[in-house]
Amino acid sequence: MTVSVQNRSESFKYDQVSRYITALVEKGDLKPGDKAPSLRRLSKELGVSISTISQSYLSLEDQGVLTAKPQSGFFVNSMVSQINNLPKTTTATGQPHRVRFGELFEKIFANANNPRIVPFGEAKPSMEFMPVKSLARTTRSIISRHPQKCMDYCFPPGDRRLREQIVEQYAQINTRVSVDDVIITSGATEALSLCLRTVAKRGDIIAVESPTYFAVLRMIEKMGMLALEIDTDPQTGMELDALGEAFDTMDIKAVLASPNISNPLGCLMPEENKRELVNMLAERDVPLIEDDVYGNVYFAEKRPRTAKSYDLNNLVLSCSSFSKTLAPGFRVGWVLAGKYRDKIIELKQATFSATSSINQIAVAEFLASGQYDRHLVRFRKAMHDQVEKGRFMIAKSFPKGTCISNPQGGNVLWVEMPQGCDSIEVFNRALQKNIGVTPGMLFSATRRFRNYLRINCGFPWNETNQAAIAILGKIVSDVLVESNT
Ligand SMILES: Cc1ncc(COP(=O)(O)O)c(C=O)c1O
Repeated sequence: MTVSVQNRSESFKYDQVSRYITALVEKGDLKPGDKAPSLRRLSKELGVSISTISQSYLSLEDQGVLTAKPQSGFFVNSMVSQINNLPKTTTATGQPHRVRFGELFEKIFANANNPRIVPFGEAKPSMEFMPVKSLARTTRSIISRHPQKCMDYCFPPGDRRLREQIVEQYAQINTRVSVDDVIITSGATEALSLCLRTVAKRGDIIAVESPTYFAVLRMIEKMGMLALEIDTDPQTGMELDALGEAFDTMDIKAVLASPNISNPLGCLMPEENKRELVNMLAERDVPLIEDDVYGNVYFAEKRPRTAKSYDLNNLVLSCSSFSKTLAPGFRVGWVLAGKYRDKIIELKQATFSATSSINQIAVAEFLASGQYDRHLVRFRKAMHDQVEKGRFMIAKSFPKGTCISNPQGGNVLWVEMPQGCDSIEVFNRALQKNIGVTPGMLFSATRRFRNYLRINCGFPWNETNQAAIAILGKIVSDVLVESNT
């Protein structure tokens, strides 16, 4: 049964039960083989009907968290023991590298738009979780009310109303910016690209997380810069001691990182580390390019602060977009460019020029109406559930020794397969079965993470997707066995 067919209070209770049980398993209070609380007991404890508990248990069985035993009740699946095996920090080479993806990249993304492929290889949430109808309604309404404005150019820095709305969003999270600080871009990709080109040139060293979002490496490759991978903790992000040591011996021109929910690790840098990172760079007069695209997709109670909010020297360039929360195809992003503002505007004028007017105006209206904030509340909860379910299904289907990230937000998982399991082989075999995954090698300039995969959980766990995880687990097990023989 899917949550969407239930009424809201029923769905709330149903989720509450699932979360309660998965939390007990994650904390180790319920161990593999333990009997789950009886329907009657849990019904009393949580004040939820027996039928809701029963449905929730059946769905936990589908996900591999519980196993039903006739006449005896529900037990914690023995396979979930690896749910608490997290990938470890790995040590990078400590040297800057030229990035050379070449054809590998194109090959892996050849099927990016193919609807027949199960989209575990993407990093975006399914449109089923986006407010498609209300955004379409808003867009139709603004076109009929402001047809000329919608169809005219909107040159940098972009639509003023949208920039005002973005400033209001920041005001809610202790990041003080003015309307003039915001430059609208065509997605975060354009923002990141403009930032890199503004603060560095060919041959310069850019420090990045390891693993890091491959498109950033791709940009560094195409701009002829060098990537310096800094060790990154799967929970707390870039290791500042390692970054400090790198600064002692190298002329680093910029640091590019996602302190709030990195892709692929889903790690969240503690607030004191963000402050320290910003101060460390300020002492050396080095800019930080902050990629905050997942900043709004956090799982904790409170929105994490941006690194920008600690920036007293105007040295942080903070990039984000509406791609991961609203409409990736709208291509609306922005950058708070600090002291580089004028240079960025100049570069944008000279390269990408204006960003789509209709899309900017529609997003501004959507934000101003309060629909975006309301959507985010539901959306974050949905992504959290998606990721939790994904973790359990992978734990159930993948071979022993697999480690799975425990992201603090976003919609992807970083999966460390046992040593010897080649992610390119897994990718090729999965593709033959119409299943997409992203091989770990793409997240490193030195092609490490060979035995890692990134798996998207932003798609509803329907029967096809659940079956695909099971098939993927079988492929990984086969590849592993063959690598050992
Ligand atoms: C970490 C990260 N940064 C930036 C982007 C690009 O965002 P946009 O689609 O807004 O260009 C993505 C998209 O996958 C991402 O995962």
